[in-house]
Amino acid sequence: MILLDGKSLSKKIRLHLHSQVKKIISLKKRKPHLVAILVGNNPASKTYVTSKQKACNEIGFDSTIIHLDENISQDELIKKILKINLDSNIDGLIVQLPLPNHIDEFLITKSISDKKDVDGFHPVNLGKMMLGAPSFLPATPFGIIKLIEEYEIDTVGKNCLVIGRSNIVGRPISILMSRNAKFANATVTVAHSRTKDIKNLTLNADIIIIALGKENFLKADMVKEGVVIIDVGINRIKSKEHKSGWRLVGDVDFNSVKQKASFITPVPGGVGPMTIVSLLQNTFLAYKQKINKI
Ligand SMILES: NC(=O)c1ccc[n+]([C@@H]2O[C@H](COP(=O)([O-])OP(=O)(O)OC[C@H]3O[C@@H](n4cnc5c(N)ncnc54)[C@H](OP(=O)(O)O)[C@@H]3O)[C@@H](O)[C@H]2O)c1
Repeated sequence: MILLDGKSLSKKIRLHLHSQVKKIISLKKRKPHLVAILVGNNPASKTYVTSKQKACNEIGFDSTIIHLDENISQDELIKKILKINLDSNIDGLIVQLPLPNHIDEFLITKSISDKKDVDGFHPVNLGKMMLGAPSFLPATPFGIIKLIEEYEIDTVGKNCLVIGRSNIVGRPISILMSRNAKFANATVTVAHSRTKDIKNLTLNADIIIIALGKENFLKADMVKEGVVIIDVGINRIKSKEHKSGWRLVGDVDFNSVKQKASFITPVPGGVGPMTIVSLLQNTFLAYKQKINKI
């Protein structure tokens, strides 16, 4: 079994980005700049936004968090986004999801300029991804593809089962895994909560990408020998051994499934760090496109 080590791959990519930023600074040019809008006080959202800012700062990007009151109106939020769209010193803009119920997430995502949409959620970028045209890829699927490429996992003609059909993970990764590229040439099946007899599908899968948010969902008796496991799930469970009182686990019963897997991502340290570094890569791409006026 080989661990798909997202922590070390993400570090390698961050070091590369850092060296690019140093070059930019030596040329006395402005640095890439990511802005994150946080609406309200959802603790998980705050943690995510802060860790994105930390990652930016570590590699020398400028980063700004705009923290808005949870009662901000949809129109006010759109006005702020449109202002940022026009700001030539800002390369990437993300609006941390979920948003309060009175705000339409689709409308907000659509308001972000597709050229600054480094989360890759804008319909234009999703459309381009669908067509195989260059675009900002959604960060988590982008990170998964990078891991598969780094470990040269054979996908050609393999049965890839994606469990979960969210717009941010399941659906985009299902498209990317069949896009007719060297490490993305699988026969893809998408499973969801209405799927019947999921064990029949998991037992037949050569690659399983699981993103549903249920701890220990995938167990050893559900997978075949040699399976490749990409565990996207992030679940907090109680733990007496940890000071915080909890620890993170994925959607896979890691200790049993790893006995049968050829490759497997740990949680934490697998897909999570790849998601953040993909956001940094998208921001750098947005910066280069702006500088080169593409
Ligand atoms: N590592 C990272 O960087 C990262 C990034 C994003 C998300 N995540 C984590 O990934 C997990 C999924 O998040 P998400 O936002 O993609 O998903 P989500 O929007 O929460 O949707 C979950 C998906 O799982 C499906 N599902 C639920 N129960 C199921 C079952 N018993 N059998 C089969 N499918 C089932 C749902 O089906 P229906 O569509 O039918 O409801 C849905 O499509 C969460 O733990 C989240 O925290 C991690």
